[in-house]
Amino acid sequence: MARILLLMSLLMLTIPLRAQGEFVPGCSIDELAQQQSTLAAFLTLEFAEDFDGSLANMFRLGALYKRMALLCGYAPNDVEVNQLLEQALMFVSLEDLIAAQSVGTDIQAILLELDGLYGDPLRGQSLYNGLEPALGGTVLGCSSCHENEAVAPLTAGTWTRINDIRLALPQYADYSHRQFLIESIVQPMAYITPDYAGMMPEFYGGQLTPQQLADLAAFLDSQDQLLDGE
Ligand code: HEC
Repeated sequence: MARILLLMSLLMLTIPLRAQGEFVPGCSIDELAQQQSTLAAFLTLEFAEDFDGSLANMFRLGALYKRMALLCGYAPNDVEVNQLLEQALMFVSLEDLIAAQSVGTDIQAILLELDGLYGDPLRGQSLYNGLEPALGGTVLGCSSCHENEAVAPLTAGTWTRINDIRLALPQYADYSHRQFLIESIVQPMAYITPDYAGMMPEFYGGQLTPQQLADLAAFLDSQDQLLDGE
């Protein structure tokens, strides 16, 4: 058992993380063939010893093969993604799987996490308008409220409004723009905009991955239409 752990950690070290579109060292056809035969040899070796250990090895080696393919640039098709999801659901409930991937509501932790992510405003717009589903297939429906000024502050001008009006309030003196924006999405009750009844749902931290939240933020940051007051 100790040997498989050692092998796994060695493999993790030798397979570098893939940067989009780049050639990945360690992923040439020869190198792949070599990794493959190392793993295969290891599997036969363990089978000679004990049954339980062999099953555990098969299971973990399978995961390693998949990981290697992914790191070297393999993009699973829809059928394969569904199979992976079904496999995952054999071990955890969908609720737990979603919770494990969602961004949560801890603002400081979220800000740190978003620091390393690049938000895509177009994808953010699709999420916002419900054209693309969020975690677990949820439709966010942000636009259904934020397109009607009677229901919620308008989407148009969100960036400018936060910068010029909200952050000028004394209680937000030490807030960054990003901090206010994230808080108003995952903890909407932290600040209730005058004239609005605190209607925004509080569950978005559980429906968004960090990347999806970064995308939404990038979209809302593009809403800098000048406002003539509130
Ligand atoms: C049911 C209606 C509703 C939905 C759906 C909704 N919001 Fe809101 N939102 C509000 C209201 C009302 C406010 C005003 C503050 C308050 O009362 O909580 C608000 C405030 C905000 C603010 C702060 C705006 C400002 O000017 O201070 C942001 C940003 C925001 N929402 C983003 C979103 C995003 C992103 C989504 C989707 C993930 C969303 N909202 C979904 C009703 C909604």
